[in-house]
Amino acid sequence: MVQNWTPSSWRQKPIQQVPDYPDQAVLSATEAQLASYPPLVFAGEARRLTKALANVAEGRGFLLQGGDCAESFAEHGADNIRDFFRAFLQMAVVLTFGAQQPVVKVGRIAGQFAKPRSSNIEKQGDVSLPSYRGDIINGIEFNEESRIPNPERQMMAYRQSAATLNLLRAFAMGGYANLDNVHQWMLGFIKDSPQGERYRKLADRITETMDFMKAIGITSDNNPSLRETDFFTSHEALLLGYEQALTRVDSTSGDWYATSGHMIWIGDRTRQADHAHIEYCRGIKNPIGLKCGPSLTADGLIELIDILNPANEAGRLTLICRFGHDKVAEHLPRLIRAVEREGRKVVWSCDPMHGNTITLNNYKTRPFERVLSEVESFFQIHRAEGTHPGGIHIEMTGKDVTECTGGARAVSAEDLQDRYHTHCDPRLNADQALELAFLLAERMKGGREEKRLVVNG
Ligand code: TRP
Ligand code: MN
Repeated sequence: MVQNWTPSSWRQKPIQQVPDYPDQAVLSATEAQLASYPPLVFAGEARRLTKALANVAEGRGFLLQGGDCAESFAEHGADNIRDFFRAFLQMAVVLTFGAQQPVVKVGRIAGQFAKPRSSNIEKQGDVSLPSYRGDIINGIEFNEESRIPNPERQMMAYRQSAATLNLLRAFAMGGYANLDNVHQWMLGFIKDSPQGERYRKLADRITETMDFMKAIGITSDNNPSLRETDFFTSHEALLLGYEQALTRVDSTSGDWYATSGHMIWIGDRTRQADHAHIEYCRGIKNPIGLKCGPSLTADGLIELIDILNPANEAGRLTLICRFGHDKVAEHLPRLIRAVEREGRKVVWSCDPMHGNTITLNNYKTRPFERVLSEVESFFQIHRAEGTHPGGIHIEMTGKDVTECTGGARAVSAEDLQDRYHTHCDPRLNADQALELAFLLAERMKGGREEKRLVVNG
């Protein structure tokens, strides 16, 4: 048992990024109600994810984590969820083939509603209002009423998460995720992409492999693992009152679990060792992500690892590095060396989104080349240090939005206004996301061949 920890012990600590709810009584009543509702996920699933991530930490798997920057109440449609899942699964197949390892599939979905903000105030013209903090807290519309934090929104977020998760479970287990389907979608992408020829070789090899399996009698009819997949959910555990309300004891182990999602992460702005977010996360047994930005020192990281994973359990902790394409070479090696020196077991994941945001024509955007460049540096650095580049963490959608520039279809600065729909940060669209997967898969294959050359002398 974790010392002196309770689901509410975070309330005794300093805290960043908390909304100012006008009516504490309504807030408490809402939290009490949520605490009486069923959990969204159960402990056994979170344990299974920890196991899968332990394999990644030990170099035998790859983590694909992705989804919206912020989910919204307005866009809670079946099409959105389906299109996201479709793009995500295609990425997963391509990466599985590229890595020749299992891909652990974790969505930023079914709970990703709360956003940390750099300023408490948003100014438009002469009007200043409280910042939008995600649909679970207040409204994005720029008026006074909508920006008042409203506890009722936590109920909406809970119900939306339940409905989203329900559909995802059906897709993952009910036949939609069949490898044959995913393979056909991927071929459709190749056919339509301006860069399709470049990816055809890899795609053809996947096709051959599938045909070979069929020829020897391994089909999705007689093999459930070809038609089903394990899909997990994750979000930033920012709104701790909500998280506490969904924190439950697992009756088999007696341990506490966050049941709002399978994996939760701690943001780069709320990772102070003696503050509330670290306090909450240290006591729950789920796999935890920790965002690591340029201000994190090597000692600071080891201190956080001591708190979050004192037993040094593989799979418990994923370090999600988000430095920026031009800073990763400066910061990642020192963190890797500290972790290696101390013998800590972690999953190294690369978030190539949050350090690469720029403003163009008044739009927040991310150039695809910079996103790709940060991931490539991440792989190169790990190869040089002899450690395992364990995963990527991206903001993406299944829709054809124009939020990040670049990619094979070359979204330009002028195109951004066409379909810029995000509630927060710019996301890769479906084509850009899949392209990233293909480019990474090529690199992974290259890396393996290099290794083989070394082994065979
Ligand atoms: N069950 C395997 C896995 O999840 C194979 C698989 C089935 C798969 N459907 C998939 C892989 C869709 C990626 C995407 O890895
Ligand atoms: Mn974001």
